Amino acid sequence: SLLTKGDVQRLDLETFNPQLISIYKSLIPSQEEVQKQRKFLTHLDRLVTRDWGGAKLFLFGSCANDFGVCNSDIDVCLSVDDEHSSKAELVMRMAGILRSDDMQNVQALTHARVPIVKFTDPDTGINCDICVNNMLAVVNSKLLHDYSQVDPRLRQLAFLVKHWAKQRQVNETYRGTLSSYAYVLMCIHFLQQRRPAILPCLQKMQPTYEVTVGKIKCAYFDKVNTLKNFGTGNKESIAELLTCFFEYWASFHDYNHAVISVRTGSFLSKDEKDWTRRIGNERHLICIEDPFEITHDLGRVVDRHSIRVLRDEFKRAARILRQGPNPAVALFEPF
Ligand code: CTP
Ligand code: MG
Repeated sequence: SLLTKGDVQRLDLETFNPQLISIYKSLIPSQEEVQKQRKFLTHLDRLVTRDWGGAKLFLFGSCANDFGVCNSDIDVCLSVDDEHSSKAELVMRMAGILRSDDMQNVQALTHARVPIVKFTDPDTGINCDICVNNMLAVVNSKLLHDYSQVDPRLRQLAFLVKHWAKQRQVNETYRGTLSSYAYVLMCIHFLQQRRPAILPCLQKMQPTYEVTVGKIKCAYFDKVNTLKNFGTGNKESIAELLTCFFEYWASFHDYNHAVISVRTGSFLSKDEKDWTRRIGNERHLICIEDPFEITHDLGRVVDRHSIRVLRDEFKRAARILRQGPNPAVALFEPF
């Protein structure tokens, strides 16, 4: 069961809530930075379309999904219709174009699970990653963005959770903790579960947006302007929500059986997903269903060791938020 309002009254919300809001505001990218990103993207788009007929660029990740804090890297997807070249070859070609434009530190990671080219733009200092034909990421970024338009508390909660995760070093998939994408899905799911609900389940509503990516049909209600009042029946503050979020992951989530699912706005069981066994390196110690690639558990990177680290961090956060002192500082103390 989730915590009720009474449970968090111990918090000194009067002072804590404005502190959290001001931390949130300090994380928002400035107008100047947004301008800089636009300038960079316009330049990149011209460069690529000039030298590579049929190639198109799409923005995804934190710059597209509204969950980008300041100085985020920019994630770009190159879309090309070319059956004869491997992703590695397409990444190499992209790297060549970037080098000829004097981009800095151009690295083609052709052997990675998802081949990408990484580089830095010398004019703006922006770091950018380009992957190839990963349109699902473009679509799931739109889904996250659309959710962020429904209730402002999602963006606030997600910024604070992402900031906490980075400060506490539990936002490192290569070390077995969770991606930013996974944390945002956890926030969306959490707000879908509040009573009254703060977010709807867009994928269960009448679809107004439909695309097919490979074999996967992506459909959901995206006229989110009509949902601006959806969450207004729930008056919980960001301080209450952040506290309940960590209490949930510290003490109430059923790690043995439950799967969180934004797609259905509910919980599924590990049994029905067949996520009960370890296969290769994929364990299912914390289960977060991808909204479109539903065989995909975003918790699969988490192992025996890192699940302990994560759960201990959830408990630490919950304890600080419950007992203080000075939770707005202690919560985000660097690990
Ligand atoms: N993504 C995905 N599947 C994953 C991880 C990421 O599809 N397992 C895609 C999502 O579209 C996500 C994007 O890659 O929006 C970038 O992921 P990530 O870096 O985790 O999130 P950001 O929002 O870019 O966060 P950050 O600010 O930390 O870069
Ligand atoms: Mg990113």
